[in-house]
Amino acid sequence: MNATLAANRPLNGLLIGTASAATQIEGGCRNHQWWQWAQTPGNIADGSSPERANDHWNRWREDNELMAELGFPIARVGLEWARIEPRPGEFDGAAVERYREELADLIAKGIRPLVTLHHFSNPLWLQARGEWTQPGVVDAFLRYVRFTVSALKDLVSEWVTINEPNVYATQAHLFREAPPSDVSPRKLVRVLQHMATAHVRAYEIIHALQPDAVVTIAHHLRDFAPMNPRNPLHRAFTRFNTWAFNDALTEAFGLGKFPRILGKSPLPEGRFVDVIGLNYYSRTAVTGPSDGVFPGRPVSDLGWEIWPEGLVTCARTLHEQLGVPVWITENGCADNGRPGQLERFRPRFLVEHLAAILDSEVPIERYYHWCFVDNWEWAEGEVQRFGIVHNDYETQIRTVKPSGRMLAEIVAAGSLTADIAAQYASGQTYPTSG
Ligand code: BGC
Repeated sequence: MNATLAANRPLNGLLIGTASAATQIEGGCRNHQWWQWAQTPGNIADGSSPERANDHWNRWREDNELMAELGFPIARVGLEWARIEPRPGEFDGAAVERYREELADLIAKGIRPLVTLHHFSNPLWLQARGEWTQPGVVDAFLRYVRFTVSALKDLVSEWVTINEPNVYATQAHLFREAPPSDVSPRKLVRVLQHMATAHVRAYEIIHALQPDAVVTIAHHLRDFAPMNPRNPLHRAFTRFNTWAFNDALTEAFGLGKFPRILGKSPLPEGRFVDVIGLNYYSRTAVTGPSDGVFPGRPVSDLGWEIWPEGLVTCARTLHEQLGVPVWITENGCADNGRPGQLERFRPRFLVEHLAAILDSEVPIERYYHWCFVDNWEWAEGEVQRFGIVHNDYETQIRTVKPSGRMLAEIVAAGSLTADIAAQYASGQTYPTSG
């Protein structure tokens, strides 16, 4: 596929917006493990800290205003557990009030929020207790969920309980990409066991508080393929990774069907998602347990293959496994532009991924692009830019990128038209993997 479209593609009800996470945009909070982790030189590529980020905690009105100007009907936003429950069992009314203001303002602007309760960040008190490796985390999380959902349920009815359990667990306990960077397969499995248990029970709790709620996880899926299809080891790892990273967790979180290694599900099997959130970025060329990229393929500035077909493959698998509609809760690319140019290929990336969605038969109802304003990219710091709006971190001045204007035009037209695609994306080229 390429950015030249022969025909218009009406959105047919697909809702389009953007996604973000509290720690990556808010700034100003020192009470979570990522702030602590960023204090040690070498942990964050550019030495930055989430303490600055987008200063969204103070600039949320401006950001909401910009989002409304662009006309997006939906937004995925995150809450910072460490702000809401700064000490175990002690809830901060002022923080909740501040979130209520922001959410009410979004709603008044015609933007429906999908709210993430946990997106990689833990309060320091939880981190000190062994974060998600200890069984006590389940009750702690459920207490936070009960409080938060009760406090916001007049404003919010769409919830993501946990973002990317597989990414959290592997980055923290296998790949040394996130705190506590403590490599231990046993801890990795425990984290997943506790997250799956917490999600399944949170699903029940949220529905008891709010019967009409829509509850899901944001599941990160990769399209795994053997680097060399003739190599039996590559094929075996492809099957294993697809099972361990993708499918087994879909069943555990979505259906309460825990694989033996995760122990017993807290509830009888059922369905514990109302839709399924899919975070999709890339395809992985498999030679072993870690990531690889096929040579000579289009890639983003982070070297991740750009592979729109994989989005549909992963969405189809989820839909077949769970029987519910799919919401793309994240999809995007690092495109850092070059001097004098805010971006080089994000419009093309968007055209190709949206076209793949609109051409598919899979019931995909929503598309949340990652992300709105360029934000603090965890261990990558401030250098890698995923936003459709540029952020100057020194001045905090936001500038809408061509991709932002393009997405706004697509939403306004109710169609991915050939004209819009040609205007914004024609002639754009991707970097190529070596
Ligand atoms: C995470 C985001 C992150 C994005 C790009 C996803 O795995 O949920 O927080 O910024 O990938 O790396």
